[in-house]
Amino acid sequence: MTGGTAAAVEVRDLGMVYPGGIRALESVSFEVKEGEFLAVLGLSGSGKSTLLRCINRLLDPTEGTVHIFGEEVTALRGSALRRLRCRIAMIFQQFNLVKRQTVLTNVLSGALGRSRLLPSLMVSFPQAERERAVAALERVGLPGRADSRADALSGGQQQRVAVARALMQEPQLILADEPVASLDPALRHSVMRHIESLNREEGLTVLCSLHDIDLVTRYATRLIALRDGQLVWQGSPSNFDQKTFKEIYGQDAEPASNSGY
Ligand SMILES: Nc1ncnc2c1ncn2[C@@H]1O[C@H](COP(=O)(O)OP(=O)(O)OP(=O)(O)O)[C@@H](O)[C@H]1O
Ligand SMILES: [Mg+2]
Repeated sequence: MTGGTAAAVEVRDLGMVYPGGIRALESVSFEVKEGEFLAVLGLSGSGKSTLLRCINRLLDPTEGTVHIFGEEVTALRGSALRRLRCRIAMIFQQFNLVKRQTVLTNVLSGALGRSRLLPSLMVSFPQAERERAVAALERVGLPGRADSRADALSGGQQQRVAVARALMQEPQLILADEPVASLDPALRHSVMRHIESLNREEGLTVLCSLHDIDLVTRYATRLIALRDGQLVWQGSPSNFDQKTFKEIYGQDAEPASNSGY
């Protein structure tokens, strides 16, 4: 930490070339301030997942740096890298729950890195952690489902379990990669509202890739857009108009009829 003025996330000249030669990111630079809800936009293949994965070092970028709260994370190895991952919660499109385990066990697993317990000690999780996990489930609107198997829940409910697991982790940062893309459109707001509440009420910084423009303008406080691995636009939701849409998605693209412009 370098004090209160450090950006939550600072990405500088980030580049990623996959083995085999595909360039997924090129000279991407931007900052995310603490408490922002940043949406990452762009067509399929534009590099959104690659960017999020480089930030928590699921991928090693081939060029550039990422600082999180002032600490350069692109240089971390071993236990320092594991500690970084404990500070960042990840919410994936496909939920990534352990399907055969209970909802409560899935939520408790979010506390593993923080409380330095081994997975084999899950059965003896302290009562205080269990109570926190039950409270997290209540918070995402799933009281009484703690003992259900994870795969007995609907997609929207499973993603809310993933949000509760993120909450248990007490992260500094949430990275969400298309968190509602697998869900029925009618359920998307339910999950987004819970992610929004972590941002607004807990003050957590959120980086979230999203396809739906109506969700982007409803939940994000700032937007960045990638095109072919390059950052082509950044601004606030109120500056996002039809012209910007075409710049990002191409002249032939049409916004969905419900996106409000
Ligand atoms: N493991 C990989 N190996 C090689 N190339 C990859 C790999 N993962 C992604 N790519 C390539 O990198 C580019 C960016 O992919 P990425 O998955 O980051 O895009 P995206 O914006 O997340 O797309 P989507 O909206 O479909 O999820 C694409 O050209 C993709 O084919
Ligand atoms: Mg992706």
